[in-house]
Amino acid sequence: MMKNIGNNQIHKHQANHNRGKNKRGNWLAVILFRISRRDFGFCLTALFVFCLGSLVWQLNGGPPNLLQDIRYYFGQSTFTDDHGPVAPKVLPFPSRVVYNRVGKCGSRTIVLLLRILADRHQFTLVSSDIHNKTRLTKHEQATLMRNITEIPQPFLYTRHVHFLNFTRFRIDEPVYINIIRDPINRFLSNYFFRRFGDWRGEENHLVRTPGMKDEERYLDINTCILENYPECSNPRLFYIIPYFCGQHPQCREPSEWALEKAKQNVLEHYLLVGVLEELEDVLLLLERLLPHFFFDVLNIYKSPEYKKLGNLTGTVRKHTPSLEALQVLYQRMEYEYIFYNFIRDLFHLTKRKIGLRSGPRPSRHHYNPAPRAHADEQDDDDAGHN
Ligand SMILES: *[C@@H]1O[C@H](CO)[C@@H](O)[C@H](O)[C@H]1NC(C)=O
Ligand SMILES: *[C@@H]1O[C@H](CO)[C@@H](O)[C@H](O)[C@H]1NC(C)=O
Ligand SMILES: *[C@@H]1O[C@H](CO)[C@@H](O)[C@H](O)[C@H]1NC(C)=O
Ligand SMILES: *[C@@H]1O[C@H](CO)[C@@H](O)[C@H](O)[C@H]1NC(C)=O
Repeated sequence: MMKNIGNNQIHKHQANHNRGKNKRGNWLAVILFRISRRDFGFCLTALFVFCLGSLVWQLNGGPPNLLQDIRYYFGQSTFTDDHGPVAPKVLPFPSRVVYNRVGKCGSRTIVLLLRILADRHQFTLVSSDIHNKTRLTKHEQATLMRNITEIPQPFLYTRHVHFLNFTRFRIDEPVYINIIRDPINRFLSNYFFRRFGDWRGEENHLVRTPGMKDEERYLDINTCILENYPECSNPRLFYIIPYFCGQHPQCREPSEWALEKAKQNVLEHYLLVGVLEELEDVLLLLERLLPHFFFDVLNIYKSPEYKKLGNLTGTVRKHTPSLEALQVLYQRMEYEYIFYNFIRDLFHLTKRKIGLRSGPRPSRHHYNPAPRAHADEQDDDDAGHN
């Protein structure tokens, strides 16, 4: 583009200066002077357009490249990074982000924050209000993915939905993020939430799921676990992994295959999967990795205004199942724990790479009945198993 501009100038000036042959020495200087004066602005514009085009071109290269660039940027070097082309020194800017939020893992906290952030940073936030449909038919998948790609960029789309394979439908893949938590804590949170809404609701015998029989509502959790009620058995305890494994029917059955698929998808398609137990570090990493979306999120989260809005009044867990019941649960959730530990290790690795201290190292015992993360209170998702 700049070359063309230069040539046009040369033709004009050749016409103008045809008479004075002796002035040829000054010729070039004059041209350059005139070019810079008249067309400096135009050149800058052209350069800008070129850069923008190049950015779009890079983004069309797809998220795997983007993920590699980001990982390279933070020194999370892998084989392909070391042997592939040199990544840019500037952090790439993914303009399409999908947060396929896992139920009862603090996602309502995040969505509240996202509303504030979308306003401040001028991105489109689409938060689906479908809470009970995580698995879709092939046709529904295609429609949903097409819908998602039509959102004005930059956008962040969030819904309780199992991993969607965009490339299968030849649609450019977005960047994925997510947050999970200790599987037993997640299960307990959902168990009581389904019945009573939240812990205060339980105290006041508030009703969350209309139509639920008292028998079920007041079912003792130890009975549920030890007497193998469906709600406390597999496959319904197999809950987190399918979010990362995908829409394949086999993804819903506890198995090595689903576990491995989920791990692989995390490595290949997720920019970050945080753990709720270290929420502040998750927010900090999101701020570093996706500044266009999450800049200043930690300050917002810690601000008194937000605390008021979120009503983050922590209460203490009242219903911890018996030790025996917990051990049974833990055995039933073996794959979920392997996956959770995998995610937590990966998260700590990312923290180290970025230079954050690693969080308190929880011992690898079966279940940690620590005080619940306060974010739990207002996680209003209906993560009902259907
Ligand atoms: C999901 O919830 C809506 C109402 O909130 C209900 O009409 C619909 O039947 C539910 N779908 C499933 C699959 O449970
Ligand atoms: C796609 O968008 C249309 C129009 O906004 C909406 O009616 C439809 O339900 C959406 N489909 C899915 C699967 O989200
Ligand atoms: C997505 O679908 C394509 C085509 O069916 C398949 O080759 C690919 O492995 C799938 N990717 C994931 C992450 O499941
Ligand atoms: C938080 O919610 C409880 C009950 O839902 C209410 O009594 C309390 O005043 C609220 N606190 C704040 C700071 O809004």
